Amino acid sequence: MVLGHHLPLLVIQLLLSYCHTATGYTNRFFYQDSLNSNGNGEIHFNGVQLRVDSSQLSVFGTRGANATLPCHYWYEPELSSARRVRVKWSWLPAAGGLETDVLVAIGPRHRGFGDFRGRVQLMQDFPGDATLVVTELQLNDTGRYRCEVIDGLEDESVIVDLELQGVVFPYQPPHGRYLLNFQEAQQTCADQDSILATFEQLFQAWEDGLNWCNAGWLADGTVQYPVTQSREPCGGAGLAPGVRSYGIRHRLLHRFNAFCFSSSLRGKVYYLQNMDKLNFTEAQQACQEDGSKMAKVGQVYAAWRYQSLDRCDAGWVADGSLRYPISRPRTNCGPPEPGVRSFGFPPLQDKHGVYCYSAVIEKT
Ligand SMILES: *[C@@H]1O[C@H](CO)[C@@H](O)[C@H](O)[C@H]1NC(C)=O
Ligand SMILES: *[C@@H]1O[C@H](CO)[C@@H](O)[C@H](O)[C@H]1NC(C)=O
Ligand SMILES: *[C@@H]1O[C@H](CO)[C@@H](O)[C@H](O)[C@H]1NC(C)=O
Repeated sequence: MVLGHHLPLLVIQLLLSYCHTATGYTNRFFYQDSLNSNGNGEIHFNGVQLRVDSSQLSVFGTRGANATLPCHYWYEPELSSARRVRVKWSWLPAAGGLETDVLVAIGPRHRGFGDFRGRVQLMQDFPGDATLVVTELQLNDTGRYRCEVIDGLEDESVIVDLELQGVVFPYQPPHGRYLLNFQEAQQTCADQDSILATFEQLFQAWEDGLNWCNAGWLADGTVQYPVTQSREPCGGAGLAPGVRSYGIRHRLLHRFNAFCFSSSLRGKVYYLQNMDKLNFTEAQQACQEDGSKMAKVGQVYAAWRYQSLDRCDAGWVADGSLRYPISRPRTNCGPPEPGVRSFGFPPLQDKHGVYCYSAVIEKT
């Protein structure tokens, strides 16, 4: 994995301390500004102030689970009678784009929007509770959620970050290195039951030890790579470890690998017990005959991370690659670290085992 690239390498060292500040500033400063300034943020009506706050400014979830984003409002001084307010939750996707509506509620009535329709509700456990519950979390639900409370002309808000926990994997397509423009990278990750990783997700993976010397697209259109062990062909031996960035690249013209993100898995991935080794087409059929499908790369990673899938047998995976997942490293099963090992893309007529994916969830 040698990084010899013609682009000027815009090396941005994103070290631990810096990044913690960076993720912290996004909501807390905004939030405090809006409460402390005497500008538009602070409200005064008949000497009463509307206040909005959250007990948790970052919430973590996994795919398929529910997330609870706390938000509550109150008045200072306290009011004797309840007021009718409008609560609006909106969302700024981590992948970039515009803030969009998630839910609007007036009293007991509420309405969800877009992808969130049918998946969002307000908790309303006590007076002033505007906590949002998002069910069936999807990989692309990450981002900044704004809880806005509107009382007449008065308007206050707080921001809660939602992050998904999961696993980041570098992806290089069958035909070689640095072939994907941004759209193709997006599609490639989607084809493998995953999504382009956000910077936060890649950073987390770097903290967990991801060391990868091929630059890949991230969801925000930047191209970066994580280095835990600095070395010459990988940006220079003298540079401190970190997530190195080429910055924003042209989404159509520039080509790189991709960093995909997957989270917990519904159903399971398994190595098919079969007497004979199979070529790629036979392997596809064998999974089908077993009532399942050939596993996608993102599914193998999710099963490795969340179901401790561990199997020292190389098997076909849906993209035509040959891989095996090791959660308990041992002799003759690859390097000493846990990981999903890859043998690249062998000729499709070669005979190997196969990993299948079954969506059936065991009822409890
Ligand atoms: C998520 O919330 C829904 C609706 O409130 C509930 O029916 C479901 O059991 C919850 N799922 C989990 C995994 O907690
Ligand atoms: C988010 O992911 C879901 C499920 O994969 C998909 O249906 C939806 O279109 C995606 N939403 C956006 C905004 O990309
Ligand atoms: C796999 O083997 C079958 C015969 O069992 C053959 O028909 C098929 O073309 C082979 N597929 C590939 C990709 O070589």
